[in-house]
Amino acid sequence: MDAGIIMQTIEAVGARCADPVPLVYERLFAAHPDFAPLFRNDHSGAARGHMFTTAIETLMDLLADDAYASHMLQAERTNHANLGVATDLFTAFYGATAEAFRDILGPDWTGEADAAWRTLIVRIDALSAA
Ligand code: HEM
Repeated sequence: MDAGIIMQTIEAVGARCADPVPLVYERLFAAHPDFAPLFRNDHSGAARGHMFTTAIETLMDLLADDAYASHMLQAERTNHANLGVATDLFTAFYGATAEAFRDILGPDWTGEADAAWRTLIVRIDALSAA
């Protein structure tokens, strides 16, 4: 997996889209409608925004030196099981993020970028289940 390509996609999305968060959750809820009601108390959207920021920061830590990412992912997978998120679907959030980024970048979402994100999500899945 190429960390540089992942970082490029994150930067390109940041440059092109002021707020990718609604699109990420739109993708998540389209694939998993059962998740939408879990956010019923998040009236302001603050928790959704914070979750997205944390997920991206954790991903960036993983790509850098994994100072905390592996532990964070394992802990959050367990925390989320208590919220009602099946453990095997925890990484679906990263899948929805990749899909939203693909939509935002259009033709600039390359086959290389797609492959890098797929590999990263497999790695996150393995790490968070460890
Ligand atoms: C499909 C996967 C996921 C679902 C359905 C999900 C769902 C949720 C829900 C329902 C909450 C509580 C929202 C509220 O308080 O109203 C939450 C909070 C949170 N989630 Fe997730 N989550 C997922 C994946 C992730 C991932 C991959 C991370 C990355 C580390 C993450 C990090 C967080 C954090 C940090 C919070 C606390 C946000 C806050 O209260 O400020 N989640 N999540």
